[in-house]
Amino acid sequence: MKAGFYQFNPSFGRKEDNIRKVISAVRDADVDLLVLPEFFATGYQFVSAGEVAELSEPVPDGYTTGMISALSREKGIYIVAGLPERDGERFYNAAVLSGPDGFIGLYRKTHLFYEETLYFTPGDTGFRVWDTAIGRLGIMICFDWFFPESMRALALSGAEIVAHPSNLVLPFCPDSMPVRCLENRVFAVTANRTGTEDRKDTGALTFIGKSEIVSPMGEILTRAPSDEEALMVRDIEPETARDKTLNPLNDVFKDRRPEHYRPLFRRSCS
Ligand code: ACM
Repeated sequence: MKAGFYQFNPSFGRKEDNIRKVISAVRDADVDLLVLPEFFATGYQFVSAGEVAELSEPVPDGYTTGMISALSREKGIYIVAGLPERDGERFYNAAVLSGPDGFIGLYRKTHLFYEETLYFTPGDTGFRVWDTAIGRLGIMICFDWFFPESMRALALSGAEIVAHPSNLVLPFCPDSMPVRCLENRVFAVTANRTGTEDRKDTGALTFIGKSEIVSPMGEILTRAPSDEEALMVRDIEPETARDKTLNPLNDVFKDRRPEHYRPLFRRSCS
């Protein structure tokens, strides 16, 4: 199956323009799973709670989820896309999964980054995996990667492909994802964005691009440039992620020793 990402530079607050841009970029693309960046339709650097409230939407009944689900139905493809979600009085940094029959599910970012903590509630969905016609899909959002537990939880829940909508500003993720994929023996599709947002006196944010697709052996199958918009697609075989063996005597999941991992359940060092 063909997995891909669309890396681009969304214009802050211009949802309709950003969504139109995605639609025209992917209309003729031969892709089965398309991953879009975190907050792909709104932009990232919110300056107030009021602005978050204005741009956030309910899921699945909001405008952005509706547009993405329609694109999925029209093309008969799966899409993972990041957006600010409103649920009553709460706001989440979320991602939706849609497929050929429309909306499938929602993930709410577990580990909030920097000023996201001012405006959003930490996610309460936990790490979810959906069994689809193209493979078992899990989702984590951007900074979730920094916590190895995120990808481990997804892999232990059966994920073969981890869709990773992102707005990366720190330089570490692109070279770290191969290790995350290798230690969990899963594919990952990181969809980052490009450009700079300078909307706040706390400083400009420059997004590092370098979206990539990584194999369960830690190979970078493709990587986008740091500052160019790019739609990239690679053929992958998700079922190869079910094989956790490293050699005839080691299986990296069966060899785990959870009885020795109890400190993982603590919040901090003792
Ligand atoms: C991030 O989590 N957007 C860096």
